[in-house]
Amino acid sequence: MCGIVGIVGAEFKIDELVSDLQKLEYRGYDSAGIAYIENGRISITKTLGRIQNLKEKIKPVTSLAGIAHTRWATHGVPNDINAHPHTDCTGKIALVHNGIIENYVELKEFLLERGHKFISDTDTEVIAHLIEENYEGDLYRAVLKTVKQLNGAYAIAVMHSDHPDILVAARKGSPLVLGKAEDKVILASDVTPIIKYTKDVVFLEEGDIAILKEREYKITDSNGNLVVRKVYHINWDEAAAEKSGYKHFMIKEIKEEPEAIENALVGRITQEGPVLNELKEFDLENIEKIKLVACGTSYHAALVFKYFVEKHSDIDIEVDVASEFRYRNVHVDDKTLVIAISQSGETADTLESVRIVKKKGAKVVAISNVVGSTITRESDVTVYMNAGPEIGVAATKTYVNQLVVLYILGMSLLKRRNIWNEELENDYKFLKESPKLFRKLLESLDIDELASYYKNYNHFMYIGRGINYPTALEGALKLKEISYINATAYPAGELKHGPIALLDPTFPVFAIAPQGYLYEKIKSNIEESKARKARIIAVTNEGNEGLSKIVDDVIYVPSAPDDMYPLIMSPIIQIFAYLISDMRGYDPDKPRNLAKSVTVE
Ligand code: G6P
Repeated sequence: MCGIVGIVGAEFKIDELVSDLQKLEYRGYDSAGIAYIENGRISITKTLGRIQNLKEKIKPVTSLAGIAHTRWATHGVPNDINAHPHTDCTGKIALVHNGIIENYVELKEFLLERGHKFISDTDTEVIAHLIEENYEGDLYRAVLKTVKQLNGAYAIAVMHSDHPDILVAARKGSPLVLGKAEDKVILASDVTPIIKYTKDVVFLEEGDIAILKEREYKITDSNGNLVVRKVYHINWDEAAAEKSGYKHFMIKEIKEEPEAIENALVGRITQEGPVLNELKEFDLENIEKIKLVACGTSYHAALVFKYFVEKHSDIDIEVDVASEFRYRNVHVDDKTLVIAISQSGETADTLESVRIVKKKGAKVVAISNVVGSTITRESDVTVYMNAGPEIGVAATKTYVNQLVVLYILGMSLLKRRNIWNEELENDYKFLKESPKLFRKLLESLDIDELASYYKNYNHFMYIGRGINYPTALEGALKLKEISYINATAYPAGELKHGPIALLDPTFPVFAIAPQGYLYEKIKSNIEESKARKARIIAVTNEGNEGLSKIVDDVIYVPSAPDDMYPLIMSPIIQIFAYLISDMRGYDPDKPRNLAKSVTVE
């Protein structure tokens, strides 16, 4: 979703600022823009489409301060005018914004009455005019007054040509991070553009306003009181956020899965078995209910946890997508554990769900990939998935690491409740072996020809049963989000209650069919699909040669304990979607209309 970068300090080339903005491309956007000071005035360049277009439009100049933005349209179509930065009537103020101003209509009416002229359809433009209205020579004071009049969510960065050496930033609901380098201060929506300058960063908190200058920054709360925010050290290196010779980030990140799993397991595999030190203080022994809340891919990881832990315990487990969860009357108490899963740690619906259940007295464990992100700060404790930066919009290695961390969480919870048996021991052994198995699978997997055969189909039906049903959901999501193919997923037993009516030779079925405890059942569902002349691709375990006699195409993964198939199947559904997207001529890293970090409701 919208991305912000701001720099202030020693003179810099503005194309450097645009390159920094490119680090946020992965968040998803439709237009981009930049503002800087040139000959004492604000100069703005904006464009529809890629940041590359912006690069081609900018002049080779330098500035002491600048703000840049990628826009993901909410109010007003994507075009040059609606792109940020926006300005006030005088053209002295420029501003970029991530979020939604809910009372912008009322504010606009008020500002129109006061004689302000608007040129865009955005909610953002009202903020620029409101700052103009409140400005009496001090930009910080004007912003402080302005944000009090805004309802909704915002992260903003503001500059004023009368103060060419400062930026003012404010956040509520949408993230902003600061980093201080030797001769400049950098501001961004997340850490990726900052790590080139410094790895020590500060996350602004709700209501914070910051003034940035060449060698310093000051942060105040919403009442204007100076505050000190914790400095977090980020250990991602810059190279990890580059493509390193791969065609796309997505395939690079899938290939990084073995290493990512190793990083997720560090310190969690011990002589005593699975351990999560983060949860030492938690009374997991007496938890009666677990509620998992998440969006998109993270929701699918949550479902796997439910199937896994429910099978081995008597704990009530419920999973919901955050946008529904937050508006339900969810019953939680101090015996409820809420697990909020968000790779970005910034997803607005998941964050709001955390706030709601915390108010109701539940304990919240966050599972995230981003150190210091908002959800991690608002939850009682965070279990980091340690996947390293993920740039491709469609989650891949973070999904795998979510599963790994959730398996460890489930196993340590069961162990602490004195539930441990041979099956769990085998699951645990498999988890320890999984980096090796992933390496072998990723080296030998060759499904290019298969993908090429299927690339022109316009529909896919993914099916799975039990713990393999979430893999079907995730497979369909991956395919639809990056290939724009109508892929849908059903629990296989549900096919006959409607969706089977869709099947014919133009509608292939992708079956997640390892020889687990529901294997015979899904085989029947495959037969039912075949009887409707649908082509069938099945993923199953090595050694199950028999399935190739029934289906059209088979992909094999190493044999695994029943519980662990969701993990070892993940690269298959990801690579299948990746190849089809690439073969259809799309950019799998930047799917249309999608954003990696969804910071608005
Ligand atoms: C967006 C991304 C998905 C992601 C979802 C939840 O829709 O495109 O890949 O699964 O957000 O994100 P989160 O950061 O909360 O895991």
